[in-house]
Amino acid sequence: MILLCSPDALAEGQSRSFDIDDLALFAVRKNGKVHAYLNRCPHRATRLEWEEDRFLDDSGNLLRCAHHGALFLIDSGECIQGPCFGDVLEMLECREDERGIWVEHP
Ligand code: FES
Repeated sequence: MILLCSPDALAEGQSRSFDIDDLALFAVRKNGKVHAYLNRCPHRATRLEWEEDRFLDDSGNLLRCAHHGALFLIDSGECIQGPCFGDVLEMLECREDERGIWVEHP
């Protein structure tokens, strides 16, 4: 497992990118739970964020790719609108303990 950050470094409703060696991923906390994905849109295999650490749409309830506006469910990574409709972001298993937020190495 890879240590991403301390638990309080990812607040409720916040998203953050992490670049670890050649691995680009991001995490978002929603309803207390942390979700982690590779930072790679299934449409064109590019990074998703539209500004540093900004992965969420205006509602804060969906993930959005900056390039062509694809929207994804936070808890499953499924694309529900956009050019890659029905595709999924690659989810990373993650867990959280008092030391931090951890993700599996894909
Ligand atoms: S690259 Fe993400 S929607 Fe096109």
